[in-house]
Amino acid sequence: MTVSISIVGASGFTGGELLRLLVRHPNVNVHQVTSRQYAQKAVYRAHPTLRGATDLRFVPPDALEPCDVLFLCLPHGESSKDWTRYERMAPRVIDLSADFRLTDEKQYETYYGQPHPRPDLLQRFEYGLVEIGRERLVRATHVAVGGCNATASILGLYPLFEAGVAQLTRTVVEVKVGSSEGGAMSTEGSHHPIRSGVVRSYKPTSHRHTAEIEQALGMHGAVQVHLSITSVELVRGALATAHVFLNEPISEKDVWQLYRNCYMHEPFIRIVKERQGPYRYPEPKLLAGTNICDIGFERDPQSNRLVVISAIDNMMKGAAGQAVQALNTMMGWPETAGLDSIGLHPS
Ligand SMILES: NC(=O)c1ccc[n+]([C@@H]2O[C@H](COP(=O)([O-])OP(=O)(O)OC[C@H]3O[C@@H](n4cnc5c(N)ncnc54)[C@H](OP(=O)(O)O)[C@@H]3O)[C@@H](O)[C@H]2O)c1
Repeated sequence: MTVSISIVGASGFTGGELLRLLVRHPNVNVHQVTSRQYAQKAVYRAHPTLRGATDLRFVPPDALEPCDVLFLCLPHGESSKDWTRYERMAPRVIDLSADFRLTDEKQYETYYGQPHPRPDLLQRFEYGLVEIGRERLVRATHVAVGGCNATASILGLYPLFEAGVAQLTRTVVEVKVGSSEGGAMSTEGSHHPIRSGVVRSYKPTSHRHTAEIEQALGMHGAVQVHLSITSVELVRGALATAHVFLNEPISEKDVWQLYRNCYMHEPFIRIVKERQGPYRYPEPKLLAGTNICDIGFERDPQSNRLVVISAIDNMMKGAAGQAVQALNTMMGWPETAGLDSIGLHPS
């Protein structure tokens, strides 16, 4: 079975990554890709690695035609602004922005500083992380892909909160993230970290992804997570270090068992915890271009703290890869279709 898909915002980082995956996907025919800046131009003009991989050209957004599945890779606020038009284009929509991730409009207002423009749509979307919502995604027609910092954090923490071993309000998460998180159309000009190599602090408190993490981990607002984000000298990758305070002392062996029980059958999650060698803990550079999340942990022998480390490629498991995994799940295809690449080493 082949479905036709189109991508709105395909000249950007996540749109380009999605296109890279979907031109090789066995069940997909890419119908249209939009860009205002590159309209009529070959896609390799924006995404040079696609030279020779496809003959597609960008079309302007107003030339969009109906298709089976529409992907929206737009800046914050744009999907909800033009929703009436996009909704008519396809029976299934996968949105990569933050517009439809939160189910609670009050939380949206708190973290995004304004009322949600279309609160009526919030219950229609399912959160895109397959590992924590496979059953719901099988039935979904509309998907909101999780944010990259949130994805790394949630996957690292989920087994502990599911098992009820973590204290509900004391978890501290620090995410170090690459510059591609900011998108290709950054307004920071020559100071953009990709071009300048600048390393700088980013968001010590009140990061918007906090709401997503708490929503995914907590029943009825019971969980509080303290999140900080720092951009580091890396183009792709997100590395979350979470400090979890346990309700009661449990051994590392028990922690292993918890993670094993939760993720044993997951094709994109690996537990990385070695006693020796240079690759003892998750390393985002090794995951570039893959849909994998690596998770490691260490029990603090002096306290009831458990340190959990999780790594992803922000544009893959944190965006386009997660979107394709959700598509595969919705369509009943093998979850790994179009996503079976192995990381690069050395990189
Ligand atoms: N980068 C990441 O790691 C990451 C991870 C997870 C989620 N996300 C989310 O994914 C979304 C896209 O991020 P990105 O990094 O791909 O951004 P980006 O590189 O800036 O790309 C945005 C794209 O949207 C198009 N666009 C902008 N305004 C538009 C409008 N009004 N109508 C139609 N097209 C428009 C732009 O192309 P033209 O100007 O040529 O039309 C461009 O192709 C964001 O909401 C972001 O928060 C990003």
